[in-house]
Amino acid sequence: MALPKVELHVHLEGTIARPENTDANFMSLGDFLGVYDKGMEKLQTARDFHDVTLAYLRRAADDEVRHVEMFFDPEPHMERGIAAGAMVDGIEEAIDTASRELSTPAGAHITANMIFSWQRNRGVRSAEACLQAMAPYVGRVVGVGTSSDYVASWPEQYAPLYHKAESLGFRKCCHAGELTDGSDGDWSGMERALKLIDPERIDHGYRCVADPSGRLLEAVVEKQVHLTVCPLSNARLRCINSLAEHPLRRLIDSGCNISLNSDDPGYVSDAERHLTQVFALCSDQFELSLDELANISKSAARAAFISE
Ligand code: HPA
Ligand code: ZN
Repeated sequence: MALPKVELHVHLEGTIARPENTDANFMSLGDFLGVYDKGMEKLQTARDFHDVTLAYLRRAADDEVRHVEMFFDPEPHMERGIAAGAMVDGIEEAIDTASRELSTPAGAHITANMIFSWQRNRGVRSAEACLQAMAPYVGRVVGVGTSSDYVASWPEQYAPLYHKAESLGFRKCCHAGELTDGSDGDWSGMERALKLIDPERIDHGYRCVADPSGRLLEAVVEKQVHLTVCPLSNARLRCINSLAEHPLRRLIDSGCNISLNSDDPGYVSDAERHLTQVFALCSDQFELSLDELANISKSAARAAFISE
């Protein structure tokens, strides 16, 4: 699709090709994360971070993506002895090269930012050490997110660290409202995250529609907090049974500020990998008009952590 696109939710470690002996049908988020955590062990040196980043930006540029904001998970890499600076240097060099040398089919340049992400299942002590390691790179790393498995009371646990990160200059986002199981990965965790963490963007967040009082959806619309939704990922990780169950149409019709994203493009099938395919499959399923598709790109561009 020639539509210019902006991608705000893609994990660097999720762009690596999934191991040969695994298929793209996961039983759950936890099942996926086991494979994902193993797959990222291939990243060892600054050069590896560079190569994986540049390979992804090449595919994105070919797909008419004009701007990418990429998560990376420092904690497991730090645990393997990789210095924070090596990750940042490697990713940054690839971003610089991409912005100088790559162009999209329409002849546009591609820009990118990096966002470090806490792995929530590792706990706040690990997250605190990670924040300290990332602090010298604020600006080169534009924001902080939280991903991986959901744990009980994570908004309460992580809010103080988010405030610290914000005071250091990191922009805030977090994965929330991704699961349909009534846990703190579902709408109630998202509601408390909105209050306690006050992120500019929520990654996924589609479960705001499940609050029976309707207040969470209202708050999302009223605050215009941006939701980086990934409907194909949600179906693939079995958070929902099929794409048809995703409330994308309702989010759009309710006036939510959303973007469409791939999440972990290396781990899905060839037919669902590229952002164009995410747009096309969602467009078919939810009868998105050209205006609506263009609005999604505009909304993503406005929500990018480019400048205040
Ligand atoms: N959810 C939570 N953590 C993740 C994901 C996701 O979809 N992808 C990579 N880490
Ligand atoms: Zn994600």
